[in-house]
Amino acid sequence: MAQATEAPQRAPFRLEDSWVYFNGELTRYADAKIGLLTHALHYGTGVFEGIRAYWNADREQLYTVRMADHFQRLRNNAHALQMRTTVNVDELCAVSNELLRRNGYHEDAYVRPILFKSQEAIGVKIHDVPDSLGIVTLPLGDYIGTGGIRCMVSSWRRIDDTMAPVRTKCTGLYINAALAKSEALESGFDEAIMLTHDGHVSEGSGENIFVVRRGVLSTPASSDNILEGITRDCVIHLAREEMGIDTVERSIDRSELYLADEVFMVGTAAQVAPIIEVDRRTVGDGEPGPMTNRLQEIYLDAVTGRNPKYAEWLTPVY
Ligand SMILES: Cc1ncc(COP(=O)(O)O)c(C=O)c1O
Repeated sequence: MAQATEAPQRAPFRLEDSWVYFNGELTRYADAKIGLLTHALHYGTGVFEGIRAYWNADREQLYTVRMADHFQRLRNNAHALQMRTTVNVDELCAVSNELLRRNGYHEDAYVRPILFKSQEAIGVKIHDVPDSLGIVTLPLGDYIGTGGIRCMVSSWRRIDDTMAPVRTKCTGLYINAALAKSEALESGFDEAIMLTHDGHVSEGSGENIFVVRRGVLSTPASSDNILEGITRDCVIHLAREEMGIDTVERSIDRSELYLADEVFMVGTAAQVAPIIEVDRRTVGDGEPGPMTNRLQEIYLDAVTGRNPKYAEWLTPVY
């Protein structure tokens, strides 16, 4: 009788023992330390990224998604914050893949690079401050629900580009996101939708947003203070390629959320997340809509390597 093959036992992930990159070295998380006076900790002077890696069990392979685009964005954001990145995109990709390999993930994982001003001194400024670079990885399943989430329009407006460079993933900007997210969670919702200072829909705390009305797919224009998401770009591309639907990038009003047939959020962590309720009003019939469901399916097929057409978005780790 054939014996069932058992999956090898893997030690549970322990963050403190995991391999990280810190200032040019591979080391253990517990040994990568920063000082209490670190500039970025006090003044929010860092830029970061969030990159997903999907485990494809059939192929026993882990794929990172659009990793070079994430590191290019990190470098562009660093430029906006007057940082000097000496490590190039290829090196950043290589070291991240090495970390994922060393940490031995056989499950979905996440890469969190952070470039931050590391001077340990008093003084608010961004020029002439030395930087440090760290990369941490960890396992990551769903971040927000993918079966239908309930949202509220936040009382916090999205930070305006006249106040800080909102197109960057600058750490300091995330106080805005955190305030909105906590308000939503503590009010019994799953996620916040922030408006711009002049009242247009901007984005979620860590997601871009799309609206479907009468078959037309729209998303806030990049001038509405959004982070120009890489998932947003994937979804625009997939809607066109796979469904023949062009996305309209324009300003969207709050009441359009109430009258929409479908609303969904997208982001590296959030993936494609259908919104079934906004401000206690059901979206459409209160179930994830057909266009959202289809895009969610197409997106997951692309990022997990099941659709070879999008292989160029993926980098195998093993
Ligand atoms: C504020 C904000 N908007 C949008 C996104 C989605 O961007 P991406 O798809 O590149 O992850 C993120 C996540 O990175 C974010 O933090």
